[in-house]
Amino acid sequence: MKKKEISTKACTCSIIGTGSHMPERVMTNDDLAKIVDTSDEWITTRTGIRSRRIAAEGEATSDLASAAARNALEMAGVKPDELDLIIVATVTPDMFFPSTACVVQKKIGAKNAVGFDISAACSGFLFALQTARHYLNGGPRKTALVIGAEKLSSLINWQDRNTCVLFGDGAGAVVLRSDDSGVVQGQVLSSVMGSDGSQTDLLKVPGGGSFLPVTPENVASRPNTIHMEGRETFKHAVTRMCQASEQALKDAGLTTDDVTLVIPHQANARILAVMADRLGIAAERMFINLDKYGNTSAATIPVALDEANRGGLIKRGDVLLLVAFGGGLTWASAVIRW
Ligand code: UT7
Repeated sequence: MKKKEISTKACTCSIIGTGSHMPERVMTNDDLAKIVDTSDEWITTRTGIRSRRIAAEGEATSDLASAAARNALEMAGVKPDELDLIIVATVTPDMFFPSTACVVQKKIGAKNAVGFDISAACSGFLFALQTARHYLNGGPRKTALVIGAEKLSSLINWQDRNTCVLFGDGAGAVVLRSDDSGVVQGQVLSSVMGSDGSQTDLLKVPGGGSFLPVTPENVASRPNTIHMEGRETFKHAVTRMCQASEQALKDAGLTTDDVTLVIPHQANARILAVMADRLGIAAERMFINLDKYGNTSAATIPVALDEANRGGLIKRGDVLLLVAFGGGLTWASAVIRW
């Protein structure tokens, strides 16, 4: 396929390393069927998920994030003390504060970086990537670590079959560098971010924060676990992910025909099938690993990107479309020339 000329003036940032880390423990659909009224057949046909990874007791989001970060730094050939910026996208921070980014900073020894977290649910990694790009393009900082990491098992109500079968734990990371060397790799050509606060009730963890603290009186109703209106969320996911994909491609001066591989948020294989159909993208150009990991929220895209990268599925010059949707509602996309 003939490559189009693409203006790269808007951005000088390159993704120079990817990494991921998944917890060892595998929980299969059959394992879940032993604790809740569900079946491998229902979960597989309705979601495409066959198993998910569950972090060990005492293993926090920052542990997964730090392991993914070390892998990305190793690939990039960047030492922790060369990092200027760490952004962690997560809805399962180790604690309310300090930020998980500060904990990661300590764990990997990135003593020269500034760190903070971003909360945009499943769109969080792409929000963080976009934020890091602006930092690197607009100031003296040169090297950023952008992480999507979650321990969603800490927010699961294991008695709610509507949600407990969907989610898992994991982390992915990229190293982003801005320089004037002219060597461009993994360059973000365009990106889209959006949110719709009128739909906050569709997907949320209502309790545990300042609005509804967990108390001895309300603890039995499990307010600090994931609540989702699945069908409604599904419809919004398809619409927003298609719109965000089309917009980012248009902004980059490209069409779906130019896309080598789509790396979408991994929530439901049916969402991805409808999306591929609407966008006119062949199923084999959609990267899917949710069968192994389920929905790991902010971690799905960097984990998938790292798997595709290390698996040799992407080569220099390929065009990637990253697209996400999540609670908020939030959505985001990015077109990347690898
Ligand atoms: O990551 C952020 C974005 N997240 C998403 O985009 C998720 C979007 N939503 C979805 O992926 C789907 O809506 C779900 C997978 C959550 C649910 O699939 P669905 O096809 O929309 O099922 P449903 O909620 O309409 O439920 C259909 C039936 C219900 O039974 P009745 O009322 O028809 O008798 C549910 O009680 O399936 C039942 N059901 C289950 N049965 C067995 C719901 N969960 C389960 C289960 N096992 N785990």
